Amino acid sequence: MRERPDDRSGWALGMARRQVLGIGGALGLMASTGLGTSAALARRPSVTGAELRSAVPLPPAFQVPLPVPSVLAPVSASGGADRYEIIQREVTAEILPGIRTPLWTYGGAFPGPTIESRRGRPVTVSHRNELPVPTVVHLHGGRTPPASDGYPTDLVLPAGWPEAVDDMPGMTNMPDMRRMLDPRAVRSRLRRDYTFPLDQRPTLLWYHDHRMDFTAPAIWRGLAGLHIVRDDAEDALGLPAGRRELPLMIADRAFAAGGGLVYPALDPGLRNRPGVREPYLAGILGDVILVNGAPWPVHEVDAARYRLRVLNASNARHYELEAVTDDGRRLDLVQVGADQGLLAMPVTHRLLPIAPAERYDVIIDFVGVPVGGRVRILNRLGSGRTRDVMAFRIARKATDDSRVPRTLSTDLPAWRRSDAVRVRDFAFRAGQMRGGHGWLIGGQPFDPTRSDVTTRLGDVEIWRLVADVHHPVHLHLVGFQVLSRRGRPPLPHDAGLKDTVSLRPGESVEIITRFDGYRGRYLFHCHNAEHEDMGMMANLEII
Ligand code: C2O
Ligand code: CU
Ligand code: CU
Repeated sequence: MRERPDDRSGWALGMARRQVLGIGGALGLMASTGLGTSAALARRPSVTGAELRSAVPLPPAFQVPLPVPSVLAPVSASGGADRYEIIQREVTAEILPGIRTPLWTYGGAFPGPTIESRRGRPVTVSHRNELPVPTVVHLHGGRTPPASDGYPTDLVLPAGWPEAVDDMPGMTNMPDMRRMLDPRAVRSRLRRDYTFPLDQRPTLLWYHDHRMDFTAPAIWRGLAGLHIVRDDAEDALGLPAGRRELPLMIADRAFAAGGGLVYPALDPGLRNRPGVREPYLAGILGDVILVNGAPWPVHEVDAARYRLRVLNASNARHYELEAVTDDGRRLDLVQVGADQGLLAMPVTHRLLPIAPAERYDVIIDFVGVPVGGRVRILNRLGSGRTRDVMAFRIARKATDDSRVPRTLSTDLPAWRRSDAVRVRDFAFRAGQMRGGHGWLIGGQPFDPTRSDVTTRLGDVEIWRLVADVHHPVHLHLVGFQVLSRRGRPPLPHDAGLKDTVSLRPGESVEIITRFDGYRGRYLFHCHNAEHEDMGMMANLEII
């Protein structure tokens, strides 16, 4: 892809910002002093990353209507499976009012189209890559056989992309070309069919790009969409449904003077050279909060219960959400589900922390809010304009026959410590990689040819994770439970079955899981997308 003028102004912005901020707080702290865990805890920064500033006028909050991504229709639904087609292509869209923004999209939209599935009914999505770079699709949270899980070297090459790594411009200059030569990679040209059995608990999944070294900028440019799995048992609960169920994909972005998204990539075409400029090595934060692709949107609601399916699709930004009425009252956020589906029973939050890639299934009740009134969703970790997320405007009184049952599910696994056949330790920390800054697991950067974790199908394991700065840790294939946090019982928002757990600076977390489903090569990694691209990923081989 050609370098656009917007990209250049983005860089200029980035550099200007650097002079203001100096090196990004947390990273500078950790990298320069090699700060240990207890010191990090004492000085716990509220964010990990550096914020870009937009160079276009930003709209006032709570004016733009909330879009709801359209549900994709299958091209065929015969033979007990649904088949979908998605074209990955570049479009220009209006995200900020009156401003044209080039995006990389699934099917021409950001977020991409939502896929709605039933548990156990297989889905095949045929992706066609019409973007200028290779792509990889991963269904996050899916119990997917390895061939369709989107391993980062299983590239779908666009037309005209050289087949052999050695033919690729610039490749021979890379000090660690070997890393690209993954003998197990299965590359395809132009198109690839991904098959998802979806034999799993119903929940909100999301699909996103997972190309090695370039996941963060690809997601940033728009390669993300939702995939909802449902089943009869969940439908029968009587939770708010229809237009009272809303998916909310929250993501921050920043806009350059020309209207394009700013991203301080070393290679703005995202072709060869991975990485981002300083001071963004710890993660990239935008100054515009988008929900379903709209800036600080507003949505008209009935004075009734709503089910919010919240996803943090930001590269690095953490949120602590609260729902506040005009007269300053905080509404309860009643959590009914986690990353991997329904909780056993509801958990009520006033403040809901959500790390990149986490999902929370939350009921909010607008019944006590006067018609004409407003409920703002705010981010306690934001400042200035990033404190606002979105708003609901109560439009009318309405009847409500929804329920929030005391028992939501009875099929959660009950793993005990004594079930674990082994315990593993992983440190998620800053370190050196390719002679520069990297993010490492157990002291090592990602290498697709190395084996990191090998486990047997069906084994239960406990993993002890420790972090220097914020690291949302994600496992492919399996859901897990949080056993402890900082040596204490888990926090209320750790409930249920998760696939991503947020480690805050200096924290340790124990998780327990059973590696079942499929044999093959999977991954675990930090879902701060910049960290992931800068090495913080490892192989998980199930044999
Ligand atoms: Cu959303 Cu490998 O992950
Ligand atoms: Cu995943
Ligand atoms: Cu990380």
